[in-house]
Amino acid sequence: MNATAKPALISVEDAKRLDVQRVQDLMQKHMNPGQLHFLKLLGFNRVLIERAEGMYYIDRNGRRILDFFGGFGSLAFGHNHPRILEARIRFQEEKRQEIAMAFMSQYAAALSYNLAAIAPGDLDMAFLCVSGSEANEAALKLAERAAGERRTVVYTERSFHGKTRAALSVTDSEFYQGSFELLPNRVRVPFGDAAALEAAFRRDRSIGTFILETVQGGAGIVPGPEGYLKAVRELCDRYGVLWLADEVQCGYGRTGRFFAFEHEAVVPDIVTLAKSLGGGKTAIGAYIARTPIFMKAYGSPKTAMIHGPATFSGMGEACCTAIEALNVLYDEGLIDNAAEQGTYLLDRLNQLQRKHPKIIKEVRGKGLMVGLELADISQTLPLGVKHLVSVLDERLKGSLCGFVGALLFRDYDVLVAFTEYNRNVIRLEPPLIVGRAEIDRFVEALDDLLSRGVGRIVGDYVKATLRGGKSEPVG
Ligand SMILES: Cc1ncc(COP(=O)(O)O)c(C=O)c1O
Repeated sequence: MNATAKPALISVEDAKRLDVQRVQDLMQKHMNPGQLHFLKLLGFNRVLIERAEGMYYIDRNGRRILDFFGGFGSLAFGHNHPRILEARIRFQEEKRQEIAMAFMSQYAAALSYNLAAIAPGDLDMAFLCVSGSEANEAALKLAERAAGERRTVVYTERSFHGKTRAALSVTDSEFYQGSFELLPNRVRVPFGDAAALEAAFRRDRSIGTFILETVQGGAGIVPGPEGYLKAVRELCDRYGVLWLADEVQCGYGRTGRFFAFEHEAVVPDIVTLAKSLGGGKTAIGAYIARTPIFMKAYGSPKTAMIHGPATFSGMGEACCTAIEALNVLYDEGLIDNAAEQGTYLLDRLNQLQRKHPKIIKEVRGKGLMVGLELADISQTLPLGVKHLVSVLDERLKGSLCGFVGALLFRDYDVLVAFTEYNRNVIRLEPPLIVGRAEIDRFVEALDDLLSRGVGRIVGDYVKATLRGGKSEPVG
């Protein structure tokens, strides 16, 4: 008999059967009540997803929700791509080695080779981890060791690099940085401004690293001006600074090239990846570094393990998933599809902007990383409505995006996201498998919604949220 009594645990089968109310209760009591509050504001608290396939989430009632959010760029292959799923199932059935700490792993080695094969120049040394933050954290440490005495890191305004401490220190957000103790030796420069970067390099000779999202995501989907990356490469070379490209969100084919920096035919010193690297099925991140830089930091037996693999680096199933996913990406021509469908999406959204010029302020992006900036209505909302909305939530006040997102979901079964720093931007990062039919469906839904006009959109949102909206009879 067991001496230790089993607590009242929920089994996997019971978990599958939890209803909406019970999941909300569990979130409230055991997760993050504030997060639940945000889900409620968008009406996302009323569904439980049963399955997901391709471009769609499918809830318990069979409602199919078109995914133009794409998990912030984590779903290049859509949901449950059959080949990726199959590779994972085979891996499990064959009872392959999972934790790769004691022995060599053919999967970690093969994935590292594949990453080097994809990356241009001598970006040949890969480090595997489990998230984008961890990849940036490790890359910043690598750069620090390679840069020697020059320990200062330059980052850009409105950057987002993650929430672990080093990544957070170069993430330009008072909200996320809060009152945490951050790394010293940081310099912030405007994004997209080569002259400001050079001025910083000239002023401060302790600068050794420049970290940059090639296309800013959280800032509101912002690519730099033409020629910016060429200037960054040239300046980093001239001043002996290492360039760390964060491609966690904009990489992996999203902009129509595997890496967004390839649009300017330049090569950084280190690049980080995560999100879609896991094929939409697993958590995996990586950095890829130029060989001389890696060797300088960790090239001898004495230094190799200073920041070597952690417990879950190179997990068997994660690596096997990532290997299959990379093969699928090329076999199915998804990078070219991102370029082609991205052009079509931008085209159709530009047409929509001409039709609704008072609501859509700007359409921008590259490939399937698109930002739709809506008018800032925070100053023009009638006082009464403003008050009502602010009662619902302080942060949504005046964010037309929040109302549009909630109604796209409620009335059109379409999912979109927003950007962290610019609340007026709808973030569109559909899976790279998207076709014209889904783009047409998305644009037509948006057109129909915007045709209601700002007044009705806000009114419909307020009514839906106050009343609890269309409720889902979930069993
Ligand atoms: C550009 C960028 N860098 C880093 C991260 C952090 O990645 P993770 O959430 O996997 O830690 C993100 C996440 O959104 C990101 O967009």
